[in-house]
Amino acid sequence: MRFRKPIFGKPVRVALQGLLPFCAAVAFGQNHIVINADLGKDTISRHIYGHFSEHLGRCIYGGYYVGEGNTKIPNTRGIRQDVVEALKKLKIPNLRWPGGCFADTYHWKDGIGPKAKRPSMVNSWWGGVTEDNSFGTHEFLDLCEQLGAEPYITGNVGSGTVQEFAQWVQYANFDGVSPMSAWRKDNGREKPWKVRFWGVGNEAWGCGGNMTAEYYANVYRAFATFIPASWGSSPLWRIASGASSTDYHWTEVLMRDIPHGLLEGIALHHYSVDWGHKSSATKFTEAEYFDTMLRALQMEELVQRHATIMDRYDPQKKVALVVDEWGGWYDVEPGTNPNFLYQQNSMRDAMIAGLTLNIFNNHADRVRMANLAQTVNVLQAVILTDEERMLVTPTYHVMEMYAVHHDALMLPVNVRSTMYAAGDKSLPAVSGSASRDRNGITHLSLVNIDTGHSQEVVVDTRGASYSSVTGRVLNSEKVQDHNTFDAPDRVRPREFTGAKFEGSKLRVQLPPCSVVVLTLK
Ligand code: AHR
Repeated sequence: MRFRKPIFGKPVRVALQGLLPFCAAVAFGQNHIVINADLGKDTISRHIYGHFSEHLGRCIYGGYYVGEGNTKIPNTRGIRQDVVEALKKLKIPNLRWPGGCFADTYHWKDGIGPKAKRPSMVNSWWGGVTEDNSFGTHEFLDLCEQLGAEPYITGNVGSGTVQEFAQWVQYANFDGVSPMSAWRKDNGREKPWKVRFWGVGNEAWGCGGNMTAEYYANVYRAFATFIPASWGSSPLWRIASGASSTDYHWTEVLMRDIPHGLLEGIALHHYSVDWGHKSSATKFTEAEYFDTMLRALQMEELVQRHATIMDRYDPQKKVALVVDEWGGWYDVEPGTNPNFLYQQNSMRDAMIAGLTLNIFNNHADRVRMANLAQTVNVLQAVILTDEERMLVTPTYHVMEMYAVHHDALMLPVNVRSTMYAAGDKSLPAVSGSASRDRNGITHLSLVNIDTGHSQEVVVDTRGASYSSVTGRVLNSEKVQDHNTFDAPDRVRPREFTGAKFEGSKLRVQLPPCSVVVLTLK
């Protein structure tokens, strides 16, 4: 991450061109949405709603894992029960681990076997802290089983070998007789875990080895050759380390130079951050909020342009775009270790989450997996812990409200939005996405990023008719509002009564700075 290129060289007006294909922005007039209920063809993969947990700060140690001997914090084999219970309510589909930058320093064999015999390691990326390796492969896969989530393991390409990586896959997945499967059994796990998702390094252009795209494409080919596309009947996904934000050359080279038989996904990382001026997570100005929204909305342009490159090489859309790091990134909380990336989470983060998930839903044909960075105590976390205390953040609530879209049929929407203006700049105020679930129920998620004005939205439907509407809303008095350990429920979803049918039209009053999810029957 230290080598990231600046992402916003262009003036605002230029950067906004190409945003929101389904969203026409108007200066005056009405917000209007059409749900094309007869045009659905792509499923919104539940894996778009994945999470990311790195050995970084208090994410793993203290966040998830408190050790088997801990009598103060209830745990199952060392894993916090309160965190697992909260995450289960999100139905989190997959969890990426062990990094991030950490992944390309991690040697998995140091993290298995009797804990007393595991060597310690220095976490050189994140504060130079010494870790005792008590949380390794078995503990992570136990966590995934407790959560009911699929593991997504990122292997060490930057400082590891092809053999080390291939042996990790064998250790986790091989059912037959081999030294690796025998070792797994000796360590207490008879049956393979059948891990499907494997990342081939992380940010190879930066902390993963400072490689060029051309060099990494060759390195990738070598690694992927020794990671089979399937074990028995279980297909594997090999996911290439992807571009940072606007690095379209990276995607172009990978799509061109890697045989597609070796490639199931290409990653993309994009944070809603001004690297030169991150700002406080809770004490931010309107201008700083606007800037965050601009960078969050840029995801639309990024997905479109990376997907357009992929379409040229892969018109059948076999290779998935995997946005395996996204979210807001601010200054750390005062008094906390600057390397631990611990930040609070406000209604601004709820806006990032709602906007971004709408974009992913609307591009379900190509974006088939994504991972919010990060789950607990790091960056845009859904959970914060303080010793035995735990709270869920506004972002958690958005993830929970949007869970209705998991594996549902995406219904394309056309959005015409009025503008949210801050000073002399403006952005579309309203965004949305819709889907129909397996029970035939339609869900429409709407976001109003305007901090000062409610927005009336008229919703028309094509190809279906509905007569009843219910919903939930997440909003708060101020965009800076957040949950604290003393007031953990200040921001939480409530019943929404601002939507009414008038004949076939649905009229919705979105409060300022709100996320609304409607159920239409
Ligand atoms: O999520 C924090 C860091 O951001 C990750 O380790 C890295 O991949 C990215 O730069």
